[in-house]
Amino acid sequence: MGGPETEKKLLDRQARYLTYHLPGDTEMLRVACDGVIVGSIGYWETEREGEPVYETGWEILDAFQGRGIGSAAASALLARLMPLARHLYVMAFPTPQNPGSNGICRKLGFDLLGVEDIEYPLGVFSPHNVWRLDLRRPRPVP
Ligand SMILES: CC(C)(COP(=O)(O)OP(=O)(O)OC[C@H]1O[C@@H](n2cnc3c(N)ncnc32)[C@H](O)[C@@H]1OP(=O)(O)O)[C@@H](O)C(=O)NCCC(=O)NCCS
Repeated sequence: MGGPETEKKLLDRQARYLTYHLPGDTEMLRVACDGVIVGSIGYWETEREGEPVYETGWEILDAFQGRGIGSAAASALLARLMPLARHLYVMAFPTPQNPGSNGICRKLGFDLLGVEDIEYPLGVFSPHNVWRLDLRRPRPVP
């Protein structure tokens, strides 16, 4: 994902995330497991082919990965967003080499639309899978 970031960049991001509490628009949420914070997950508005959509992204700390926490968090996020959503679709753009993220998308019923060159981080273009979930459709619960 572009490698480690500077302390300043982390603090800037944290300050920005703390402003992301606009339900139905942008939210960044803690993922907690038995009271321990193990990651974060969020959604925000973006544009896809001229239409507004949501994008989602997630991180689980290394020691807690591979236990179903990421999929449970993504499922909870979708359940939270569905009744508030102003747009039809939620997008996710993991690289093809990210088994955990692609696993979450597959498990939650996202459709794989293809692979595109996407800029992330700024200035770096590389192939990313394009996953889309239709919020009107019932989805599998992990
Ligand atoms: C992506 C991430 C959030 C996944 O969280 P997680 O809690 O490990 O995910 P889960 O345990 O719920 O696994 C989800 C699915 O992916 C699969 N999966 C997870 N890690 C995998 C791995 N290393 N290899 C193969 N499959 C894997 C799981 O098998 C699971 O599917 P299944 O239940 O049908 O078997 C976590 O790996 C992470 O934080 N990675 C670093 C940050 C990152 O890449 N963020 C996303 C950027 S797009």
